[in-house]
Amino acid sequence: MKILLLGKDGQVGWELQRALAPLGEVIALDRQGENGLCGDLADLDGLRTTIRRLQPDVIVNAAAYTAVDKAEDEPELACLINALAPQVMAEEMHALNGWLVHYSTDYVFDGSGTLPWSEMDRTAPLNQYGQSKFQGEEAIQQSGCQHLIFRTSWVYAARGNNFAKTMLRLAAEREQLNVIDDQVGAPTGADLLADVTAHTLRLAVAKPQLSGLYHLAAAGETSWCGYARYVIELTRGMGAALAVQNIEPIPTTAYPTPAQRPLNSRLDTRKVSQSFALHLPSWQSGVSRMLKEI
Ligand SMILES: NC(=O)c1ccc[n+]([C@@H]2O[C@H](COP(=O)([O-])OP(=O)(O)OC[C@H]3O[C@@H](n4cnc5c(N)ncnc54)[C@H](OP(=O)(O)O)[C@@H]3O)[C@@H](O)[C@H]2O)c1
Repeated sequence: MKILLLGKDGQVGWELQRALAPLGEVIALDRQGENGLCGDLADLDGLRTTIRRLQPDVIVNAAAYTAVDKAEDEPELACLINALAPQVMAEEMHALNGWLVHYSTDYVFDGSGTLPWSEMDRTAPLNQYGQSKFQGEEAIQQSGCQHLIFRTSWVYAARGNNFAKTMLRLAAEREQLNVIDDQVGAPTGADLLADVTAHTLRLAVAKPQLSGLYHLAAAGETSWCGYARYVIELTRGMGAALAVQNIEPIPTTAYPTPAQRPLNSRLDTRKVSQSFALHLPSWQSGVSRMLKEI
């Protein structure tokens, strides 16, 4: 199997380089590209030419415009990278009778209610990033190409910056932290997403009726405040000296941001678990592993 991996150095892309390696030949590109191959999703012609030149069996697209607040000021660029580029990938993979694996987000929902969102629920993005990701999903689905679209949430990785590292840095400096407590979701490791991608892709190429949209996140739920408390308690338990004495829960309204965030980011993952015979581990197990690693 020849796999073109785009966005190879992002949180998920980095883990995919590892997880996809046993499946076949992986050509992994970042924005800069290499050997005349274009990995820049803002260059639609370059992207199309590269796919035609490589003729991959599978494209795994881990590249995305992920700056949620900045997207409010750059909706066209977010749309170009998150919707128009995936559309080019989907058209080309349809012509090649190949597969496109793509990632989307709980931000396609408006965050109302307290039930986990299912794949059948109505989408209503609250911000430009969510809108652009939703347009990407639609373009792929309408292209007719075989696809796996995974909507996920609250992605972290040991590599690079993440919420847990930020909390630990602040907890070392300050006695009190104020953390949002009314947004609920499941922190999901990039390593889990990559491993599930490799597993599902293997099964899907042998069984095309598995093509579709799936919700994929670690099991369980928490708020950002609950997540921060877990990270800080666990790190203290490992012997770290932290200044923080009080972690104060605050509402989203107390921390205004340019882009509105959904309050309810719970994802119902039964479809992916049942379709691919998967057990999704608790969010705590992945976060604790990441903390030991960093
Ligand atoms: N992070 C989350 O909490 C979260 C939640 C739900 C869904 N998702 C989705 O999960 C997927 C993976 O996200 P992630 O957390 O791994 O994101 P990430 O760490 O921000 O990585 C995104 C990657 O895309 C690359 N990229 C941006 N613009 C590009 C362009 N024009 N051409 C080529 N590459 C470009 C970035 O490269 P540069 O470093 O060069 O910019 C980066 O390597 C995305 O589809 C995202 O929408 C993420």
